[in-house]
Amino acid sequence: MTSRKVRYGLIGAGNNAVKKHLSNYSRLSNIELVAVCDVNIENGRKAAETYNIPNVYKNYQDMIIKEDLDIVSVCTPNSLHTDITIYALQNGVNVHCEKPLAINGKEAQRIVEAKNRSGKNVMVGLNNRFTNEAVYLKKCIDEGYLGDIYKAKAGWIRRSGIPGRGTWFTNKEVAGGGVMIDLGVHYLDLALYLMGMPEPTYVTGATYQNFAHTDKRNRNGYKGNPNGIFNVEDSANGFIGLQDGATVNFEFSWASNIDEDQTFIEILGTKGGASIINGELKIHSEILDSCVDISPILNPNIKLKNEFEHFTNSILSSEELLAPAEHGVYMMNIIDHFYLSAEKQEPVFFEKNNNCYKRLSSIC
Ligand SMILES: NC(=O)c1ccc[n+]([C@@H]2O[C@H](COP(=O)([O-])OP(=O)(O)OC[C@H]3O[C@@H](n4cnc5c(N)ncnc54)[C@H](O)[C@@H]3O)[C@@H](O)[C@H]2O)c1
Repeated sequence: MTSRKVRYGLIGAGNNAVKKHLSNYSRLSNIELVAVCDVNIENGRKAAETYNIPNVYKNYQDMIIKEDLDIVSVCTPNSLHTDITIYALQNGVNVHCEKPLAINGKEAQRIVEAKNRSGKNVMVGLNNRFTNEAVYLKKCIDEGYLGDIYKAKAGWIRRSGIPGRGTWFTNKEVAGGGVMIDLGVHYLDLALYLMGMPEPTYVTGATYQNFAHTDKRNRNGYKGNPNGIFNVEDSANGFIGLQDGATVNFEFSWASNIDEDQTFIEILGTKGGASIINGELKIHSEILDSCVDISPILNPNIKLKNEFEHFTNSILSSEELLAPAEHGVYMMNIIDHFYLSAEKQEPVFFEKNNNCYKRLSSIC
């Protein structure tokens, strides 16, 4: 690439794109915000106006063909991620694709294959991997401070947090699933990433739908559509067995009768444990004859990773990606097994001696 700025385009100018992608990419001095595309042209125009973006499109193919872009963010509803990402790759554009990478493992794998053919790159928008606490904890684990990791717990539970009853989020065909594919993708990913993404051997899952009948449990600020579809789970529980003998428990809910909302990760190792609860990191271990709790004061002089800067730099310098598309395949294969287990009401095993990028033929 020459010394010109990195030419950036946004596809899908909804809530997340504006709050997360445009607000962050617009801060980078080596990014030029070139164009925005949304089928809802008003959303596109509004975002373009706010961020002073000169070109607005209704059709992503037109934008990609005309604008000679280096990066696009794909921030559309989930079922569109695969086709849009593959189209961008085929036309020489790197993709920062929102989570979930695709609505199942098979589609996620198609993205990886297209990426490999294109020589371009795809990063999944797994922002929770980029928090200072997660970056620091990952380093602690990788450098052996917690010993061998044998158990983890992950969850994101909301009391009233349906992202709009009857919107695309609650429509299986468009979203691919409910809370598991929405919030589970973030926190189960974080637990498994911290553990080093061991190969899974089996998944046991259960899904529940108890709040589809009421608008009372919508997330604050999110409107429902009374005529829309709600055919996904609003609560999910499960257990994963991993090839190295470690296990992960998980629990997610958009709506449930709990005391209060919580996000949590707990990682247990032979030398120490760690938790990130509602964003707060603690490390638990022992010194001499006593157990100790450590609350790290993260060094403000150490520059930790910024998701948007990291992806931009990876294009300019081949910096290794922290959330590559292959990790999206790993996660979507686990989620496929989770949904199959919930449907069959029994554990579902991965093929023996296979890595998890391959999947059970019954799921394909
Ligand atoms: N990483 C995170 O923390 C996070 C948070 C929220 C959402 N997300 C993800 O971001 C994506 C978008 O979620 P959202 O909450 O912004 O949804 P949203 O409904 O607010 O926005 C989606 C936008 O995509 C547009 N769109 C639909 N089809 C399109 C097409 N063919 N071409 C161009 N634009 C199209 C819609 O008009 C809308 O403006 C989802 O994949 C979601 O899972 C990630």
